[in-house]
Amino acid sequence: MTVASRAPIEAPVRPAADVYPAGAVLMAPLSGYTDAPFRLLCRRYGCRFAFTPLIAARSLIHRNPKATPLLYRSPAEPWLGVQLEAGDPDVLSRAVLLLADRDFQVLDLNLGCPVAKVTRKGAGAALLLKPDLACRCIEALAAGPFPVTAKVRILDEQDPTPTIRLAKALRNAGIRALTIHGRTPARFYSGPVAAHVIRAVRENVDLPVIANGGIRTRHDACELRNRTGCRRIMVARGAIGNPWIFREILSEALPPPPTHDEVCDAVEEHVRGMVRLYGESVGMRNARKIILSYLTGRGYRRTRRREVTSVSTLQGFLELLHAIRCEGPSPRYVSPRPFYDPPDPTDRADPREIRS
Ligand SMILES: Cc1cc2nc3c(=O)[nH]c(=O)nc-3n(C[C@H](O)[C@H](O)[C@H](O)COP(=O)(O)O)c2cc1C
Repeated sequence: MTVASRAPIEAPVRPAADVYPAGAVLMAPLSGYTDAPFRLLCRRYGCRFAFTPLIAARSLIHRNPKATPLLYRSPAEPWLGVQLEAGDPDVLSRAVLLLADRDFQVLDLNLGCPVAKVTRKGAGAALLLKPDLACRCIEALAAGPFPVTAKVRILDEQDPTPTIRLAKALRNAGIRALTIHGRTPARFYSGPVAAHVIRAVRENVDLPVIANGGIRTRHDACELRNRTGCRRIMVARGAIGNPWIFREILSEALPPPPTHDEVCDAVEEHVRGMVRLYGESVGMRNARKIILSYLTGRGYRRTRRREVTSVSTLQGFLELLHAIRCEGPSPRYVSPRPFYDPPDPTDRADPREIRS
């Protein structure tokens, strides 16, 4: 069945004149990270708007069991967006039907992922090169009961015109807000953020624009707001192992960094949540990089961090954490926590793929 021949979904459209209030600080979708345990820690420190990691719409249709924990929403989460990935409007229509009776606040379409696994299917950043198809994908989502948003990358670092043109087309197709990661797909996750391009889109397109890229501290958040003129911003890698970034950005005065006990309590809660969500074997495998992200750059002994790489049971982790709790960080440690760069998701990606 084509999108055009599909009967509209009967569920009422949820009210969302303005999906995010001015001043909102959003948590980005991050594959491999932003599941419910991650989000709950961020929420404790003030994050309201958060997303599932990118979920392949096709995996919902095929009822892939791996999608189930990604869609899990804790009762303690007041607001949750689902981010979908697909380059086929029909697949997206079918995915919306499956989600229609669930409680999510927005559906967000990914138009930025540069990883070959995604772009070779014609999804993610590959859609940036096919604006007509991208718009049909948005229309397919917008036929459902959810407000629809999109997350894109800039198309050109110097000239804002192509990104403005894309944003206008997506707005006409039905998006209610647009997140812009200020790097081109060819840049992957490094290099400067072209704030002037985000600013130009905000000034020329009648849409709430959320600025994204390079926020690691409260100072970065202010800078990105000032340079783009966007009142809405999105934190991504800066929250990995650092849910306190929301408290840091949202407090009136700069709060103190987390204490040793706070760090240990947070990592314990995060890992226990992952074991509950995925089971012990998968949960602990996924948790190693999470544990490292909390411990890196906070003055903990390198040997302890090395032990994390072989931990495979909850009991083993709790014993290691007990030792870390007793030891504490090095007394010589004073500097603020450096940015934790997670394993590069683009390791196997070919940047040329999306340029052709
Ligand atoms: C490990 C990793 C996973 C990511 N997963 C997603 C994803 O699922 N969906 C998405 O739209 N962007 C994803 N991104 C991109 C981020 O949401 C964000 O746009 C990017 O990291 C730039 O922001 P930052 O410089 O503040 O990290 C991912 C980035 C990384 C590093």
